[in-house]
Amino acid sequence: MSHMWSGRFDSAPDEEIFSFQASFGFDRRLFEDDITGSLAWAEALARAGVLSKVEATEIQQGLTEILECGRADPGFVEGPDEDVHAFVERQLIERVGDAGKRLHTGRSRNEQVSLDLRLYLRRCIEVLQGQLVGLIQVLASQAESAGLAVMPSYTHLRRAQPILVAHYFLAHAASLRRDHRRFEIARDEADLMPLGSGAIAGSSYDIDTEALAARLGFSRVVTNSLDATADRDFVSGFLHACAITMVHLSRIAEDLVIMTSEEFAYFGLSDKVTTGSSLMPQKKNPDPLELVRGKTGRVIGQLTGWLTTMKGLPSGYNKDLQEDKEAIFDAEDSLTGSIRATTIVVGTLSLDIERTEEAAGGMALATDVADLLVAGGVPFREAHEVVGSMVRDLVGRQQDFSSLNSADWQAYHPLLDAGAAAQITARGSIAARRTPQSTQPDAVAAALDEVRQWVRSWEAR
Ligand code: ARG
Repeated sequence: MSHMWSGRFDSAPDEEIFSFQASFGFDRRLFEDDITGSLAWAEALARAGVLSKVEATEIQQGLTEILECGRADPGFVEGPDEDVHAFVERQLIERVGDAGKRLHTGRSRNEQVSLDLRLYLRRCIEVLQGQLVGLIQVLASQAESAGLAVMPSYTHLRRAQPILVAHYFLAHAASLRRDHRRFEIARDEADLMPLGSGAIAGSSYDIDTEALAARLGFSRVVTNSLDATADRDFVSGFLHACAITMVHLSRIAEDLVIMTSEEFAYFGLSDKVTTGSSLMPQKKNPDPLELVRGKTGRVIGQLTGWLTTMKGLPSGYNKDLQEDKEAIFDAEDSLTGSIRATTIVVGTLSLDIERTEEAAGGMALATDVADLLVAGGVPFREAHEVVGSMVRDLVGRQQDFSSLNSADWQAYHPLLDAGAAAQITARGSIAARRTPQSTQPDAVAAALDEVRQWVRSWEAR
C-alpha cells in the first residue's frame, strides 16, 4: 500500500516501524468524529471557493456512506491505514476519486486530530456526567430510605460523633457533585475549534473559522495556530477530572469494604455484587469495590503518565502527542466501569439499623456531655477535662454514660444530673446541631431536597 506521504520517499517504511507508530488500532474510536469534522471541512472549503459545489456534494455523500458503513458494521473500520484520518481519506478516494483527493486541501492531521479529540471528549463527558448523576441519585435514594437512622462518624477510623446515615450518603453525593462540575470545566476547556491552524502556521485558504466553529457546535475558535496544534491541556483537564472522580469512588469503595465487613456489618452487600471463595465456603468478598479501588491507581497513572509525556515537548506538533488517545480511552473505560459498578453496589446496599444505632451511642456522646457543661457556663477546656475523666472511669469499668445514676453524674460535676443525662443520646446529639451543613435532621432533609432538585435539573437536559 502506498502512504499519504509516499511522494517524498524512496522506499516504503519498515513494516515493524510502521505498525509501531500507527494509531489506527486505537484511534478508530474517533471514527465518527473524524467524519463529522470532515463533513464540516468540505463545507468550509466550498465556501472558500476551493471546492466546487459538485465536488463538495460528492465528498459529503461519500463521507455519509462511509459513516453508515461504519455504524452498520464496526468491523468495517479496519485496515492497513496509519490512523483513522488516513482510513477515512482512503475510503473516500475509493468512493469518489478526485474530489476525495481534494478534501485534505489546506488541512493537516495535526489540527484534525485535535478537532476529533475535542469532539470525542464532548460526547464522552456528557455520558460520564449522566452516569455520575445516576450514582448521585442512588446515593440520594439510600439517604432517603435511611430516614432518621443513626450511625457513628469516624475520624482516624475511631468513633467520633453520631450522624444520620442519610448524612453519610449525602457526603459522598457532595464529592461526586464536585466531580460533575469538574467535567463541566473539562468540557469547556475542550470547547475551542482548532481548524484553520493547518500543520502549524495557519491556513492559506479563506476559511471562515467562526462559521466552522458554529457549524461544529463550538463556542470559540483557537487563537494561535502554533499553540493549537500542540495544545493538549484539554486532555490533561479531562484526565484530571477522571482521576479525582476515581479517588472519590475509591474512598466510597474503601468505606464500604470496611463497613460491610463482619467487624462492622453496618451495611450488607447483596449477593449480586459479591464473589465467593474457591476454598473458603463462608466467604462473600466485595470484589467490585476492591476493583474500583484498584483501578484508581491506574487512572491516576494515566494522568501522571500523560503530564510526564507533555512536559518535555518542544513547540509544535510532536508524535508523542499521539499517546493522548490511549490515556483518554483507558481512563474513560476505567471510570465508566467503576461508576456503574459503584452505582449497582450502592443501590443494592442494605442497612442494619440496630448495629449502626448501637455503635452511634456509647463514648461517641462524650462531646455532648461536654457541651452540656458548656451550656451551664463551664469553659470548654474545663468541661473537656471533666468528661475526659468520666470516660476514663467508664472505659475502665466497661460501661457508658447510660449506666450512670443521678448521684454518679453529680459526683462528676454539680451541673450534671439525671435530667441533663436524659439528653445524652445519639438522637439528642444529632438534634442539637445547628448549622446548615450539619447532620441535624431538618438540615439533612433540606440537603436531600437540594440534591434531588439538582438531579432532576440534569435529567431534564
Ligand atoms: N495519529 C496522529 C496522532 O494521533 C495524527 C496526527 C499525525 N500527524 C503527524 N504529523 N504525524 O497524533
